[in-house]
Amino acid sequence: MDEQKTTLRLSASREQEIKTAGRLLKEGGLVAIPTETVYGLAANALNGRAVAAIFAAKGRPMDNPLIVHISKIEQWAPLVNEIPPRAMELAKQFWPGPLTIILPKSALIPDEVSAGQATVAVRFPSHPVARAVIDAAGVPLAAPSANLSGSPSPTEAQHVLADLDGRIDAILDGGACDVGVESTVITLAQEVPRLLRPGGITPEQLSQVLGDVEVDPAVLNPLAAGEKVLSPGMKYKHYSPRANVVLVKGTLSAYSDYVNSHAKEGVFALCYNGEQGALNVPAVAYGEQEDASQQARHLFDALRKLDELGAKVVYARSPRPSGVGLAVYNRLIRAAGFEVVELG
Ligand code: TXA
Ligand code: MG
Repeated sequence: MDEQKTTLRLSASREQEIKTAGRLLKEGGLVAIPTETVYGLAANALNGRAVAAIFAAKGRPMDNPLIVHISKIEQWAPLVNEIPPRAMELAKQFWPGPLTIILPKSALIPDEVSAGQATVAVRFPSHPVARAVIDAAGVPLAAPSANLSGSPSPTEAQHVLADLDGRIDAILDGGACDVGVESTVITLAQEVPRLLRPGGITPEQLSQVLGDVEVDPAVLNPLAAGEKVLSPGMKYKHYSPRANVVLVKGTLSAYSDYVNSHAKEGVFALCYNGEQGALNVPAVAYGEQEDASQQARHLFDALRKLDELGAKVVYARSPRPSGVGLAVYNRLIRAAGFEVVELG
């Protein structure tokens, strides 16, 4: 492992400590910060060396570009070649909020941020603490999710510490994240806008502003070996706990029969609220069946909990892949490495 640091614990409820986070970032440090989606591991986006340290701390593949976070709309224009009208429309509708917009980048963006792409992904978060830290740093912040590469994204400060304690300069604790899955990512760097990653802003909401929106095939399907991807993050096994996750599609009774017939030491269920009674294995619930936003909020915490409980195999109830549920499904099917059981 790289050089050990003492990771400073900061609290977002103290204004002075938000300032400290801003100062550390300005000086080239790495600070984990809360956003409305998940915790981000932030660095000064205009400082290539600081950004390179993010990749080292996370063990992130060098070809996976980062999102740049701003706290004022005026910070956007210098980062990109130009802001076309449809991009401004999107920003007007959904910023600040859980939407990331990709456009051709300007010369200000270091190669470490764009990781070989000619584009840059920009997001204006709605979380007041995230915005206050960007203001305090006085520069845009590059920030991927603040987890070790491959593991579930962190929605609480303790998740960040479990992965990155001793590897980063500070964590700013702002409580649990509201959305719970990462932002929706859309590219406007091509003629027809394309959804690269589903999130809290749904395809239906995007279409209302943009008209036609393509959904990248990698959102729902595994990539063929060697296939080229628009969003490099899509090609890695992601969000996965140590346990082997299997996605199970079917009714509750088909699901519970299947799980119960596979009951043995180390087998766990990831189910909807209120279903534990039908299952003969230990179960963690991740929300109400009809409430995709609640599922999104609890999914990553539930995956981490299953590891803590010692799960070896997890049979997961498959979310309905529409609306915000598309984001939940996208994360869970990656956690499962696309291993799916279809029951009648
Ligand atoms: O909600 C979020 O977006 C969180 C918080 C911290 O803001 N951040 C986040 O970052 O999820 P990260 O690095 O874990 O995911 C960024 C995704 C990756 O799939 C990456 O490949 C894609 O966005 N991406 C970033 N820049 C891109 C670009 N220029 N072209 C294509 N894909 C890009
Ligand atoms: Mg991530």
